[in-house]
Amino acid sequence: MTLEWGDLFAGRIAGMAASEIRELLKLIDRPEIISFAGGIPDPDLFPSAAIARAYEKVFQSNAGAGGALQYTISEGYTPLREWIVAYMERKGVRPDLDEVLVTSGSQQALDFIGKLLIGPGDLVAVTKPTYLGALQAFSPYEPRYVSIAMDEEGPVLADLEAALAQRPKFLYLVPDFQNPNGTTVSTARREAIVDLCAAAGIPIVEDAAYAELRYDGEALPSLAAIDAARNGGRPGQVIHCGSFSKTMVPALRVGWVSAAREVVNRLVLMKQAADLHTSTINQIVMHDVVSQIFDSHVRRLRVAYKERRDAMLAALAEFMPAGVTWTRPQGGMFVWIELQHGQCGVTLLERAVREANVAFVPGAAFFADRSGANTIRLSFSATKPERIREGVRRIAGLLEPVTA
Ligand SMILES: Cc1ncc(COP(=O)(O)O)c(C=O)c1O
Repeated sequence: MTLEWGDLFAGRIAGMAASEIRELLKLIDRPEIISFAGGIPDPDLFPSAAIARAYEKVFQSNAGAGGALQYTISEGYTPLREWIVAYMERKGVRPDLDEVLVTSGSQQALDFIGKLLIGPGDLVAVTKPTYLGALQAFSPYEPRYVSIAMDEEGPVLADLEAALAQRPKFLYLVPDFQNPNGTTVSTARREAIVDLCAAAGIPIVEDAAYAELRYDGEALPSLAAIDAARNGGRPGQVIHCGSFSKTMVPALRVGWVSAAREVVNRLVLMKQAADLHTSTINQIVMHDVVSQIFDSHVRRLRVAYKERRDAMLAALAEFMPAGVTWTRPQGGMFVWIELQHGQCGVTLLERAVREANVAFVPGAAFFADRSGANTIRLSFSATKPERIREGVRRIAGLLEPVTA
């Protein structure tokens, strides 16, 4: 008898739909394609030499290698957590050591937070658009979503208030240079969000994946810092997720959660159940590398990515026809485009890949409510400036000029 696997899968699998654009994006590895699709760092900017030296150091002694290749505690490698505590202190929050958990990328933190807080049918508040990977992490726990509109300062407060009145389990937010739309939440809006959520007794999950990649202006206080300032410097209602993927390298898979002890204690149990701990040797290497070059390397990234951001904005201004609008991100990796009325991002991608050898991600995937059909996300981080100009020119060539 042949098994009907589909009948055996748990109900939560329904929330794990494969992306309809994945097949199309498989085509983009061809060298002739200029891809703005992946939100990935440029491998030419990886601190490979520092990483190689750190691995070599581990293997210089038997004892060092033995420790690095052994199991470790679920909470994470203690010197790395101490570095993270000091980093969070610089940012205005004073977590204790046992209020920091190292995770296998911040993506794993999002999964654990979903597991911790979401029961079937619970409401989760997200912005529209929001990070697709967060929707993918939360959806297996069978939430319903309430989507909050955004303007150039962040989530629209009237929408947030209406969402909070429905008592979501938490608000998920990427306050800095949000993936996908590049929006940064203003300081006034951050204060108001923390106030409203505090008054409603609703936690905030702050995803700070891009916070260090700022190209203009001053760093803004994190939601965790604003919350801590009202809480004697200590973590309160904000669960803060950090990552070394965008500042160092993604492949070591090292991220973290900093939150109130009660939350982190539970997340540690989830870590034990999921994979016992993040790779010992990778944590040791990450600690060595960030201790030596974190600030200087981030400065270097800012210079390189700023040039690419500027190249993309200049090309958009040069080539895009009337009726197309875009964001002007102060950092991060993404520019968000609103196409002319009635244009569809998915259809444009199909044409872009087949007719113009250029790729991007259609915006609809980033909306829990499946709106946003006429939006697309362009990532500038992994493409050199000359190719950025050419890629934008090709996309613009597929769009109809609008005659007045
Ligand atoms: C907003 C956001 N959060 C989290 C992640 C996950 O990153 P990682 O698991 O590599 O830390 C990403 C990756 O692109 C992201 O864009």
